[in-house]
Parts: sequence; structure tokens; C-alpha cells
Amino acid sequence: MKNKKQIAEKSRQSIPAARVQRELLPEQSTELLKQLHILTRDGQLNADSRRKLKQINHLANLLTPDLERLFADDRDPLIVDAGAGNGYLGFVLYELWCKPSERGTVLNVEVRADLVARARERAALLNYPRMVYEEMAVADLVPHVEADKPPVWHDRPVDAVVALHACDTATDDAIELGIRAGASVIAVVPCCQAEIARLLAGTAVHAPAGALWRHPIHRREFGANLTNVIRAHVLEAFGYQVTVTELTGLEHSLKNELILARKVQRRNGLALKHLQQLLSGLPYLPMGLLTRMLPPSADATDTPDVESTEPLA
Ligand SMILES: C[S@@+](CC[C@H](N)C(=O)[O-])C[C@H]1O[C@@H](n2cnc3c(N)ncnc32)[C@H](O)[C@@H]1O
Repeated sequence: MKNKKQIAEKSRQSIPAARVQRELLPEQSTELLKQLHILTRDGQLNADSRRKLKQINHLANLLTPDLERLFADDRDPLIVDAGAGNGYLGFVLYELWCKPSERGTVLNVEVRADLVARARERAALLNYPRMVYEEMAVADLVPHVEADKPPVWHDRPVDAVVALHACDTATDDAIELGIRAGASVIAVVPCCQAEIARLLAGTAVHAPAGALWRHPIHRREFGANLTNVIRAHVLEAFGYQVTVTELTGLEHSLKNELILARKVQRRNGLALKHLQQLLSGLPYLPMGLLTRMLPPSADATDTPDVESTEPLA
């Protein structure tokens, strides 16, 4: 059996062009990957690109049942990639789903103007007209003012939200966008998140729970874990069935936690109650996602119990 060092060593190796095919998904072209500079001009896959490709392809693969459903019956789905960067994931999804079906739009949301400009050029070069970019922050995509109305983009509802390593709280903005839109699937692989660690740093350290965040390293790790626990519970409370898994082997990325959420019911009162019970054991954490999505003063005794769980219409 290979040890961790051998596995890590293997993940640092380049793959020659002749062996690249086995790293690809069925229907995935080397032309697109060369265009994205994931493959070199002569078709090799270097170690860094290999890690990125593994993550993207694995996520694309896991989303297959959702995409099959979204593209069924001549539907024209809108998929949002929040914090899209170069749009690697979006380009791959476009090639595999939007191009062959001639339907579906990938809307990439990205704050960096240089990345947006380059990706738009690529999309034009590849003749991918429905691979579109908005240069803006995820939180600005949909104004929050009309909280009772689902957000739309050019009158189109959002069907799926993905966010691969969207920085810090951009992952929360992606989750919020997906929930408010009633997206049928939300998939996030969070990046480093420091919001809760910052909030904990300002609280008194009372035993016993305070021991969990007394030291800065523990605070960072505990803060990151707590953030993802809260994210998963918020999604559940809004009627999503959530799985939390590793995206790829840890040797491919340290930011490797995949929160995959599928809408199965309108609300889940029990999940909300559990979240509020969890939070009641901690200092008040005015985390943005929580304060925007849940009433700050609600306590566990006010919340609906499992009987109030509402099915999806
Ligand atoms: C680590 S990169 C990941 C890019 C891409 N998803 C990938 O996996 O290759 C994070 C990207 O999110 C963008 N970003 C950060 N905060 C954002 C926000 N609030 N709204 C939109 N984009 C954001 C950054 O500019 C950066 O391009």
C-alpha cells in the first residue's frame, strides 16, 4: 500500500501527452484544456494543472445527475459559478453540457476585471456564446431588497450555483444567492474563511467551550470547521439535503471540503432548531450569512419543530 508521501509525490508529477486521456472525462477535449492552459501546447499536464483538473472534473462528475435533470426535456438552465476566476469549471461544464445540447447558460461572477476580460476573449474564441461573465461581487448579483422574491438574472431563474474556492465570505454569498433563488442544487468547496475566527478573537475565552478557540491556530481551524457546519445547517434549514465530503484526495488540495446541497423541501424546522441549539452554546456570532438568512434574536424554543417541516410543492 502506498504511503502518504508516495501519493503526494505522485500528485507532483507531470503527465505526458500520451497518457493525458485517462485523466479526462468522456467527451472532454484536449483542445479546450489547451486553450485554458491546463494542458501545455504539446498536450502535457503539469502537476499544478493536474490538481486543478482533478478538482474540476470530480465536481463536474458529481454534478452529473443534477445536470441530467436540469438539461432534460429541452430545458434551458442557468448555472452560476460564483467567484469563477478563469472559469475553468464553467468552460468544462459548457463543453460537456451547453455545447452539445445547444442550451443552458453558465453565468460566471468574478470581481477581477483582468480575469473577466481574458475569459470573455476565450469564450469568444471558442464560440461559446452562453458562457457569460458579470464583473461584480457575488453579493451584488442580486439585490437583497426584495427578500420575498426569488432572484432572477435577466428574467431567468437560477437553477444551480457552484463556487469552487470562492474566497472567504464569497462562499456565503454564493450559498445565500442559491437559497434565495431556490436553486435546485448548490455546490460549494470553500476557500480559507476567517470571518468566524475574527469574531471569536474578540470574545472572552470561558471554559469549557472557550478552550476550543484560545490559541490562534485552533481558532482558525475551529472557526473554519464551525463555518462549514453552520453553512450546512443553514442549507438544511432552507430545505436542502446536504452531503459533506472530500472533493479529491487531500494530496490534490487542502481546501477540499465539498458541501453539496439538493433542494428537497421548502423548509426544515428541525435543522433550524439544531443550528440554533448549536449556536446557543457559543458566544453570539454575528456571522454575515446567519444574520442575513436567520432572525438574530430567534431562540430554539420559538423555532418550528420537525412537524412543521414543509414539503416542496
Ligand atoms: C481562489 S480563486 C478560485 C477561482 C475558480 N473558482 C477556480 O476554482 O479556479 C477565487 C476567485 O474568487 C474571486 N472573488 C473573491 N471574492 C469574490 C466576490 N465576493 N465576488 C466575486 N468574485 C470573488 C477572486 O477574484 C478569485 O478570482
